Amino acid sequence: MQTMPARPLTAERPWLITGATGLLGQEIVRQAAGRASLCGTFFSRPPEPLPGVTWTRLDVGDQAAVQALLHDLQPAVIIHTAYRKADPDLWRVTALGAGYVAQAAAQVNARLVYVSSDVLLDGERAPYDESAQPEPRHPYGFAKAEAERLVQQAAPDAALVRTSLICRLRPPDPISAWIIDSVQQGQPITLFTDEIRSPVWVQDLAASLIELATLPFAGILNVAGPQPLSRYEMGLRLTRHLGLDGRGLTAGSSLASGLQRPRNCTLEVSLAQRLLRTRLRSYDEGLETP
Ligand SMILES: NC(=O)c1ccc[n+]([C@@H]2O[C@H](COP(=O)([O-])OP(=O)(O)OC[C@H]3O[C@@H](n4cnc5c(N)ncnc54)[C@H](OP(=O)(O)O)[C@@H]3O)[C@@H](O)[C@H]2O)c1
Repeated sequence: MQTMPARPLTAERPWLITGATGLLGQEIVRQAAGRASLCGTFFSRPPEPLPGVTWTRLDVGDQAAVQALLHDLQPAVIIHTAYRKADPDLWRVTALGAGYVAQAAAQVNARLVYVSSDVLLDGERAPYDESAQPEPRHPYGFAKAEAERLVQQAAPDAALVRTSLICRLRPPDPISAWIIDSVQQGQPITLFTDEIRSPVWVQDLAASLIELATLPFAGILNVAGPQPLSRYEMGLRLTRHLGLDGRGLTAGSSLASGLQRPRNCTLEVSLAQRLLRTRLRSYDEGLETP
């Protein structure tokens, strides 16, 4: 961990939230609205107007557009969540785009909080603390690993937050929605018992990112839930909580499936628990207190 001088939350310069129409970005905007003037970016889904929020279309893979926006806006803080998980444009947007945002952030002296992912880890040596080196297993993992490298190179003061499966109950996040819809429609689905993640509730992650934006923390920080669970265990808990019949959930093996995916990405979150006032709830706690 490196430190830099504390930066007060400033009302004059706005906060920029990239990917503000996404699962995480929406929640950051909801929580930060009113605390600072906000600019949220979207790419393909123009959002509804929101008081206190200016919306701008941005392709983060377009370096000139990133530069122009940041130089016009002069944000105090940038929380960079925008990405693409798959082609087309995985590398251009997820890897190179993060680098463009970091370069421009450094030029305008903005505090950068970049959202990284546990999937850049190899998944063979869990639990992982912040010193874990990226050893990706699939194209998305390679893109997130390169993004971390580019961000650290261009903006050494940035906070890089490694997180895990982002969960929301109301309305359900896309994976939970798929599980719920499948069970309700009597469609059997297989969930892996050997893919372990550290699910985090979107409210806790968004609050952590906002808090981190005001703290003098630089480097990698794991911000995820403290309860590692397999995808199958999560499915069982979710359906049980909603009173749904979970018999349509079949336990499967990622290893046996032959998929090239990291298996156990459990993140060690004690540093975040010491550093942040925001409490990171377990998956079970979040189901009970959404
Ligand atoms: N979801 C998870 O479980 C999870 C787990 C670990 C890490 N993460 C990380 O968390 C971050 C946010 O994930 P999320 O689930 O909230 O994402 P999401 O819901 O899929 O939203 C992605 C956002 O990126 C925007 N976007 C897409 N292409 C773009 C482009 N070319 N230029 C600029 N913006 C673009 C989208 O805009 P439009 O909607 O307007 O097209 C949307 O706002 C990502 O960096 C991801 O790697 C997510």
